[in-house]
Amino acid sequence: MAIILGIESSCDETSASICINGEIHSNVIATQAIHAKYGGVIPELASRAHQQNIIPTVEEAIRQAKVSKNQIDAVSFTRGPGLLGALLVGTSFAKSFALAQNIPLIDINHMQAHILAHFIEDPKPSFPFLCLTVSGGHTQIVLVKDYFEMELLGETLDDAAGEAFDKTAKILNLPYPGGPLIDKFAKEGNPSAYRLPEPQIPGLNFSFSGLKTAILYLVQDQLKQNPDVLTHNMADLCASVQSRIVSILLNKLKKAAKETGVKDIAIAGGVSANSGLRKSLIEMGEKYRWRVFIPKFEYCTDNAAMIAIAGYHKFLKKDFVGQDVAPMARMHL
Ligand code: KG4
Ligand code: ZN
Repeated sequence: MAIILGIESSCDETSASICINGEIHSNVIATQAIHAKYGGVIPELASRAHQQNIIPTVEEAIRQAKVSKNQIDAVSFTRGPGLLGALLVGTSFAKSFALAQNIPLIDINHMQAHILAHFIEDPKPSFPFLCLTVSGGHTQIVLVKDYFEMELLGETLDDAAGEAFDKTAKILNLPYPGGPLIDKFAKEGNPSAYRLPEPQIPGLNFSFSGLKTAILYLVQDQLKQNPDVLTHNMADLCASVQSRIVSILLNKLKKAAKETGVKDIAIAGGVSANSGLRKSLIEMGEKYRWRVFIPKFEYCTDNAAMIAIAGYHKFLKKDFVGQDVAPMARMHL
């Protein structure tokens, strides 16, 4: 029997989860609404909100899982990458909890955890598999050889896919975080309404900065012709942008699958909640005979269930850290 408490605090979600023998029994997420007012995450405000939220969030996760604090066998926490002040809150909490309860402490890489979210529920991918991890801060194609043995095959050279969504939303006058809103408008729009360029980047790397500039010029140009374009053509604009971001992502994923011969293909991270990406990946999987793995919505965006499941797999290997562990804003896979 292994009961793991997982803690996530890398960005603007404070989350706690209880994993019992590899099964998630609670996943409580406190989202910080404060940032919408500023059009992006303000690191200092995020740290403060984490401090306010962490104890009630952990208490609620323990309550929902119907366990007692004294039954917990280990605590895993996001060590990085992320906002340093935000990570510090989760790290300090986890360290104190481990010390007070006299249980092991397990450090987790947030990007690995997004991928390991695929081991929460069946069907699970088999090793080796490919994972396209797309979040607000990262865009990576990863060859996953084992739970903690991952090779980075390609990544973004500038903006992340989530940033491309969020920055486009800003240009379109939509509030932060814009990804889910673009997704919503895109459902009603025509993806071929506006032509946007596909960057030619060598290998398996990505670039989204050129697309962002193209969108800015397109919108400025359209506004000159019709000052009401954002009211009347929002759905077409969103559908065109989303379809281009999805094609950039999936063309590279297709290339990675071809080069590696791997046929178990997964997506992870906040942008994997995007309905256009999910739909196109399923279609591509049918065409190329891949086994496709798409996380449930609650395991796409930041959550502690993925930290708890990753913690469980490190617990089985007795891979623990000491009280001298420090958070890391940057951390490789
Ligand atoms: O993984 P995540 O929750 O946090 C980070 O680790 O960054 O990802 C957040 C990102 C944001 O950029 C957000 O706009 C994007 O995921 N996102 C979406 C959707 N839901 C969240 N982007 C497009 N469509 C969505 N449905
Ligand atoms: Zn994330």
